[in-house]
Amino acid sequence: MMKSKLLLALLACTLIAGCDRVDPNSPLGKRQTLFKEMLRTSEDLGGMLRGRLSFNEKRFAEGAVKLDDLSRQPWQHFPQVQDSGDSSQARDEVWQRQERFQQLARDLEASTAELRAAAQIKPLKADALIAPVDKVEIACKACHEEFRIY
Ligand code: HEC
Repeated sequence: MMKSKLLLALLACTLIAGCDRVDPNSPLGKRQTLFKEMLRTSEDLGGMLRGRLSFNEKRFAEGAVKLDDLSRQPWQHFPQVQDSGDSSQARDEVWQRQERFQQLARDLEASTAELRAAAQIKPLKADALIAPVDKVEIACKACHEEFRIY
């Protein structure tokens, strides 16, 4: 039992670059965890619309609420003074152009709020959710293109 847990942890580490170095309680660790959770949640929503997962009204509505809550959280974990070491994928521009960074964060929040609202309309129609989900994905991408190192 212990052994398989250890093996799993090791496996997870080889998949996540730099995981052995990032303290989960550091600002970097906290924002990475939130971003990963955002990705998982948005992929589930997109997956339900694109047929990878079966569409479930309740799960979709809950996911939309969760994504909207999550989208408000990573920004507080970008400290005023740049903290990014080797394991951060944040560009220097995050600190050099903070206003622009914050603006793109607000854009994402606005798009997840729209999705959250759209997902409360009953009965929930998958067709009506495609545009709001696209908008969220575009907001993620817009910021990554300017501020994230790949
Ligand atoms: C306002 C800018 C911004 C927005 C909007 C944004 N991100 Fe990011 N994201 C970043 C930055 C910067 C990093 C790199 C953080 C670091 O490593 O210090 C990042 C990193 C990530 C990572 C990698 C986390 C890890 O394991 O290191 C994932 C996954 C991610 N974002 C998903 C998303 C998703 C999904 C959305 C939209 C729902 C989103 N992001 C929206 C700026 C943004």
